[in-house]
Amino acid sequence: MKSEGYTMAEIRIRNTNERISGEDNVKAFLDKQEVLYEHWDPNKLPEALRENFQLSDEDKAQILSTFDTEIRDLAGRRGYRTWDVIALSEATPNLEELLKKFEQVHTHTEDEVRAITAGKGIFIIKGDEETGYFDVELNAGDVISVPEGKPHFFTLMENKQIVAVRLFIETEGWIAHKYDDPAFQGA
Ligand SMILES: [Fe+2]
Repeated sequence: MKSEGYTMAEIRIRNTNERISGEDNVKAFLDKQEVLYEHWDPNKLPEALRENFQLSDEDKAQILSTFDTEIRDLAGRRGYRTWDVIALSEATPNLEELLKKFEQVHTHTEDEVRAITAGKGIFIIKGDEETGYFDVELNAGDVISVPEGKPHFFTLMENKQIVAVRLFIETEGWIAHKYDDPAFQGA
């Protein structure tokens, strides 16, 4: 798929520093790690919403309606029943404290689904025994579903700006359960 002007997801394997790029390679790697990866066309979003990280309720509704087909398709395949939009930036109150809280390895009792519509973010995920922890750097258009029970955490990149659609089966399923792992080297 062509996505001009946008960078697609990239993987960095922490133990070896190996990087994996290109949609097919990224998808194949994540498939093997049982992480769903898809790509939506970020150019569908109205220009005014592409670099906007302080969203009104109307902006959020417009993002959801722009990707309504993609959201319903993914939800139908995976059993997700509700969705919303989250925006984080330096304008977010207590962003640093929030990030500190995020940056702990944890699990959930349902998938963690994020479709990035603007900005960037990183999921750090515990892969299989052989692979260890890896980073998935996500850009606008990247869609990821970290499966239930898989240790991970999420953080922002240097620009500290992201907008993402979140999909849930039950919002209550998305409570973090701390995962203590002596093998984890830190954020
Ligand atoms: Fe999580």
